[in-house]
Amino acid sequence: MPLETVTKIAELRERLRPVRQAGQSIGLVPTMGYLHRGHAALVDRARAENDVVVVSVFVNPLQFGPKEDFASYPRDLDADRKLLAEHGADIVFAPSVEEMYPRPITTHIEVEELSVRLEGERRPGHFRGVATVVGKLFNIALPDRAYFGEKDYQQLQVIRRMVADLSFPLEIVGVPTVRDVDGVALSSRNVYLSPVERAAAPVLSRSLAAAADAIGGGTVDPQDIEAVVRGVLADEPLAAPDLVAVAAADTLEPIDPKAPPPSIALMLAVRIGRTRLLDQRVVAVP
Ligand code: PAJ
Repeated sequence: MPLETVTKIAELRERLRPVRQAGQSIGLVPTMGYLHRGHAALVDRARAENDVVVVSVFVNPLQFGPKEDFASYPRDLDADRKLLAEHGADIVFAPSVEEMYPRPITTHIEVEELSVRLEGERRPGHFRGVATVVGKLFNIALPDRAYFGEKDYQQLQVIRRMVADLSFPLEIVGVPTVRDVDGVALSSRNVYLSPVERAAAPVLSRSLAAAADAIGGGTVDPQDIEAVVRGVLADEPLAAPDLVAVAAADTLEPIDPKAPPPSIALMLAVRIGRTRLLDQRVVAVP
């Protein structure tokens, strides 16, 4: 079946109604486009688990801060369509900003606490914008399952909490981070990196590997774990850490070294030049 492109909310609903009525399952993969192998892993998983796979491509202005890269965020719908066809997606939903937000939006989904900590503290309003657009996409596509990458670990937790709190009738599936051979997590924003900056980028996953080793060796004090990460990052002069977070993996609560959680989430945001890169790793406490 060739890939269909849909740009209108009403058209997508009409297209999916008979699918649901026939008892077929719908998998949704929300993206902002400029797709790479990381996104493809989500599509592959959705393809394996659902009858119909819908991928949304929408650069959501609500989740960008005033000084962030909404206008310059990379876009290439033709290339995205090619990748999606190769991975067997059925429908790409690529609405305009006017279609999604015909007038200024006044209703938002705020996942309290989780949204304002860590990355949320660095990017005020970001997770509110994410939760709001994802909730809206869920209402438009009414999927049985929706797929999110672990790379954006806090985002995944925010969505899980939103779905639980508001009883959205679907399953959230988390997919492991896809990396380049040198360990760099694939990201649409990697295109911003100069060759020299790209060569510095593996320091993120290296620092996480060092912290994972430390946890494996019995270190559970979050300050000690953070020091290991920062120590490795400090060796790379181009890397400026913006966020080094060590938290309980399931709740993102701070860690009490006297009562460590079953697994620890390490979350990084590091500036290399003008690009802010994210990486993450979840480590079981031995
Ligand atoms: P975007 O950055 O395009 O990412 C879309 C999905 O792909 C997210 O769930 C993200 O975690 C996942 N992803 C990105 N890189 C990945 C990698 N290397 N390995 C595995 N998964 C990866 O995240 C967003 O868009 C937006 O915030 C969105 C959820 C679409 C809401 O606007």
